[in-house]
Amino acid sequence: MSEAAVHENPTGSVLFPRLGSVLALAPLGVWTTWHLWQNLVASRSDEAWQHTYFSGSAAGSVVTSLVVFAPLVIHTLWGLRRLKMASVNKYSYFGNLKYIVQRVSAVGLLGFLAAHITLARIKPALNGTHETFEDLAAHMRHHPPTTMVYVLGVLGTAYHLANGVYTSFFINGLAASPQAARRMQVISLVFFAFLVVVGLGAIAQLYNAGAAFSPPVD
Ligand code: HEM
Repeated sequence: MSEAAVHENPTGSVLFPRLGSVLALAPLGVWTTWHLWQNLVASRSDEAWQHTYFSGSAAGSVVTSLVVFAPLVIHTLWGLRRLKMASVNKYSYFGNLKYIVQRVSAVGLLGFLAAHITLARIKPALNGTHETFEDLAAHMRHHPPTTMVYVLGVLGTAYHLANGVYTSFFINGLAASPQAARRMQVISLVFFAFLVVVGLGAIAQLYNAGAAFSPPVD
């Protein structure tokens, strides 16, 4: 077993680690990449936002939620179990650093997702609507805690997903040789940079648009 595989699967069991990591790649990782891209397109203007979030059917919205939330819950339970088993080892400094940041970003993401899903999805849904362009843009511009939480949420997501792709290739035996590992490291870095640019790009567009709106009252 490789260094990373020992790190990621200290019990040696096969089924649970595979289920947790495969679900994290698809549909969760694929959806998250799509979600960040969709936000970059939607946050260009109020019209683009309306088209993205207000023009779909209610059934489509429920299906999306199921495709996202079921794997998210399974992956979170799987991740919490692995957090409890966490231990650094005597191998490379870089490997241990990535391992620690993966776990710190997981804890940060739990907090970010709880706040983000409650405010951007559940709260508007209880009023029978979706999050509006004006509300999010005004918060992004005039409410620094919102801006900070979104920036950290995007950075944490980009790292957790890009490094997760790298480690899941080990768990599933797809990057066992040193050459394959180096190739995956480069792919993971490029993917990280892509997610950061797309995610921060959406935040920057919302921040700029927020100048046209009054500060939110809540
Ligand atoms: C650029 C920053 C982001 C913006 C502007 C944004 C915007 C939104 C909006 C407007 C919704 C509600 C969608 C609807 O009503 O149909 C939503 C839902 C959601 N977002 Fe984000 N988001 C961002 C970043 C993230 C990140 C980094 C993640 C991490 C994975 C994430 C995960 C989710 C999840 C899980 C949902 C609920 C999915 C659903 O029920 O359809 N978001 N987001």
